[in-house]
Amino acid sequence: MLEEKAPSDKSQDEASNPLISGLDLEKQVKPLAFTIFGAHGDLNKRKLLPAIYALYLQGLLPRGFVLLGTSRTVMDDEGFRKLMCESLQKFAPDLPFEQDAWDRFATCLFYQPADSGSHEGFASIKTRLEELGQKYNTGGRNVFYLSTPPSLYWPIIEGLSKVGLVEKRKVNEEAWPRVVIEKPFGHDLSSSLELDDHIHDVMREHQVYRIDHYLGKETVQNVMVFRFANSIFEPIWNRNYIEQIQITNAETIGVEGRGAYYEEAGALRDMVQNHLMQLLALVLMEPPIAMDAETTRDEKIKVLRALKPIDLNRIDSVAVRGQYDQGFVAGVEVPAYRAEKSVKPDSNTITFAALKLEVDNWRWAGVPIYLRSGKRMAKSITEVSIHFKPTPNNLFGDIPGLSQAPSNPEGNVLVMQIQPEEGISLKFATKEPGPTTSVRWLNMDFRYGTAFGTRTPTAYERLILDCLQGDPSLYARSDFVEASWRYLQPVIEHWEKNNPTKFPNYKAGSWGPKESDDMLAQRGHYWRKL
Ligand code: BG6
Repeated sequence: MLEEKAPSDKSQDEASNPLISGLDLEKQVKPLAFTIFGAHGDLNKRKLLPAIYALYLQGLLPRGFVLLGTSRTVMDDEGFRKLMCESLQKFAPDLPFEQDAWDRFATCLFYQPADSGSHEGFASIKTRLEELGQKYNTGGRNVFYLSTPPSLYWPIIEGLSKVGLVEKRKVNEEAWPRVVIEKPFGHDLSSSLELDDHIHDVMREHQVYRIDHYLGKETVQNVMVFRFANSIFEPIWNRNYIEQIQITNAETIGVEGRGAYYEEAGALRDMVQNHLMQLLALVLMEPPIAMDAETTRDEKIKVLRALKPIDLNRIDSVAVRGQYDQGFVAGVEVPAYRAEKSVKPDSNTITFAALKLEVDNWRWAGVPIYLRSGKRMAKSITEVSIHFKPTPNNLFGDIPGLSQAPSNPEGNVLVMQIQPEEGISLKFATKEPGPTTSVRWLNMDFRYGTAFGTRTPTAYERLILDCLQGDPSLYARSDFVEASWRYLQPVIEHWEKNNPTKFPNYKAGSWGPKESDDMLAQRGHYWRKL
């Protein structure tokens, strides 16, 4: 078990383990049991287990830590340990694997097969947690991680509540147990409200951790630091200086064997309602008065509340959908969405969504915010670009982006790249060497990798640690999720009522349907060339 290792003995491990210098624990993690529903699934194998193991290597797990995996698959503790060990080596090759360290870690892994549709299943989990809790002194503290299809969120929480593993705490009581819920939270506004209502019957909001892995990304957290730890950007971060903002999530991958899930979700629910709306809030929010969970989340929700409601008569000019056809990505031929596994041959599920939003407040009035997310695009890039207004007069001739059309693709642009090359760059005009005054656009670049030269913790590492510490700052609060669905609901309904007539409407390996370019062209804007 974990007490045999002294993971917090940094002096001994520091030299051999570069991860240790990365994070410092601000709050203590108390002994606890971490139960993963869907432990046999992909998310656990690829993300959760590697993140927990990385926390262990950094000495960030408490002594008295129990990880209980559960799912319907029948397996014993040893089988689970073996499976997790194989998954770790397969999916987390960047983590140093040493048999000794793994063997020590593996002593805290346990498995309980259970059918989450039956009372007996929950009763068996309870019995197991009680036994393990006594043995490892977890003090009855539980975290339940729902790494399952969304349709099981409420049945699992209800099942846990019926056997007394989930109880509603008072506002001033410590938040145990905690339940971590994956996205999508609900399928639309009414189903998310219904789910929330159910959950709040048996738990208080401070026990609910709605995970959005984008918030755990270093570069996403850096948006706040960049904006509020530097005094030079904030004065120009408004409608007086900014012409437009673009948030792009482009992926070259398709649905990667997740056809069944994606058929239900589609791009709007899968990426926009959660990840991109969170990014948008971070970029547009007012400075919070403190860095605590509620204060920052209060500022984020104000942004969503200030979004100008979508004009029902103009939906098609502010919301574009797409689905990919077969094509070539990085020189390799890939099938159309409709030919993917578990996808209906006449599916109308969207794999691309682009929106134009406006924020009705003093800071942002009149500044268009463009969001787009697509699968099977030409490149994999997630970034936020802030496009500044041009100079007011034309000293240097007819130079694109300088004083020409305000929206020329050239011009001062600040790019916060979330992935793959995490960093920040600022495009500015400079004089080309030579006898004439000719101006060129260049980039001033900052890259995380080269600047810090350390391994970046994964989003799940950060978020799981926060949950263990009881800090929900980087988790989505109930009102945010609701406001996001509320804003998008007219688009969801409009698209559901009106079947697309031209699907598939973009080639795999392209930048999406032409209508998405047309949407920006209405204001003389262009998507940034990536
Ligand atoms: C997930 C979506 O939430 O985020 C996936 O379900 C998507 O469809 C993924 O591919 C993108 O995450 P990342 O971290 O690779 O940008």
